[in-house]
Amino acid sequence: MSAVVPPAAGLRFPGEPRFAWRGVMLDVARRFRPLPELFRFVDLLAAHRITVLQLHLSDDQGWRFEVRAYPRLTEVGGRRSETQLGHGPASTLDGVPHEGWYRQSELRELVAYAAERGIRVVPELDVPGHASAILAAYPEFGVGGAEAVARRVREPWTRFGISDEVLNVEDETLAFVGTVFDELCEVFDDEIVGIGGDEVRKDRWRADPRTQRLMAERGIADEEELQAWFLGRVADGLRARGRRAVGWDEMLEGRDPAPDAIVASWRGPVGARLGARLGHDVVLCPDLWTYFDYRQSDDPAEPIPVGTVLALEDVAGFDPVPAAEPAWFAERVVGVQANVWAEHLDGPERLDYAVFPRLGAFAEVAWTGHPLDPADFAARLPAYLAWLDERGVGYRPPSGPRPEQQRPGVPGVPRDRASRIAELERLTAGLASS
Ligand code: ACM
Repeated sequence: MSAVVPPAAGLRFPGEPRFAWRGVMLDVARRFRPLPELFRFVDLLAAHRITVLQLHLSDDQGWRFEVRAYPRLTEVGGRRSETQLGHGPASTLDGVPHEGWYRQSELRELVAYAAERGIRVVPELDVPGHASAILAAYPEFGVGGAEAVARRVREPWTRFGISDEVLNVEDETLAFVGTVFDELCEVFDDEIVGIGGDEVRKDRWRADPRTQRLMAERGIADEEELQAWFLGRVADGLRARGRRAVGWDEMLEGRDPAPDAIVASWRGPVGARLGARLGHDVVLCPDLWTYFDYRQSDDPAEPIPVGTVLALEDVAGFDPVPAAEPAWFAERVVGVQANVWAEHLDGPERLDYAVFPRLGAFAEVAWTGHPLDPADFAARLPAYLAWLDERGVGYRPPSGPRPEQQRPGVPGVPRDRASRIAELERLTAGLASS
């Protein structure tokens, strides 16, 4: 177990943990990270008594998992010619190619290395949305015919946001996805496998006569149900291999795709509540409390500020299952997870800055299941920061970013909490009324 890695100084992990799933998701799709960086990250996670590393291996901007049956996924899907710099209308393109992917043998090494340190690696391939990197490599799996898709998608997306590109719903496409997940299961031995399911834009399915005909033939009422049908087929394939799916909370839109799936609830508590009511295990990763790409203060000097403010003190105040929640809900919560989306984390220094010291507070909340006593945590913080210093971790200082940690002139899009909460309510209204 993680006894081989002593806990970080200054942090406390008393008694037995409240949650078995104390997760961190790392987005290596937007930003490929060489294997040694992942080993270092695993060492740091182990010292924080994190038990799950979810590896987000595919997205619009890149595909990172070697698939023997479909080599173009990495050859074409693993490289983009340039990348968006900053966020919002004033963002630019950097003109710098970005590429990289992991050999299956390398990922096996990572799985073994993490296991020795008490960490399960849960791989995630995101379907049926966030599909541009797949479609750059294999346009026949997109909507509207291979020629049209190839014209639209010439390479993985160089911009950030939610692309309109989704997989089509032909049997051949489901077979392709099945083969890819087969190879994924050969490499990753954990019972749980991530299937994505988030932010699937429905416009292409809606406008495509062939998709509409397939829906009618299959008795599928609308595009939300089609998404659930797709994810259900992927989850069925995993079940046949003795695995279980974890998917983002959009998975429950339309209908419940897989009774045994774990729901990762990121858009507030609504998905978690519905998931628990339907009998799913749930992992809580609400963006307002656990998205480590979000800005750490209101200071305009924060590098590429996106999202709402998520200060160290806010993470320390995260109350995963407030006392007012009913017992049937609490019983279904198997874990909490911090998500490290990497659009704007374009190097190891930026990753360190986003993750630390917030991970210290998160790790203790994940262990105890409760918010931290602010004075007690503040008193232990210097010892923890000294421990990070000793390891060369470029954390965000409590006083704000050092000059070399700032990104002057690179625009961000700060959000305010009230507008984000209103947006989350809008986005989850369908789930709330289910
Ligand atoms: C997500 O943040 N799209 C899960």
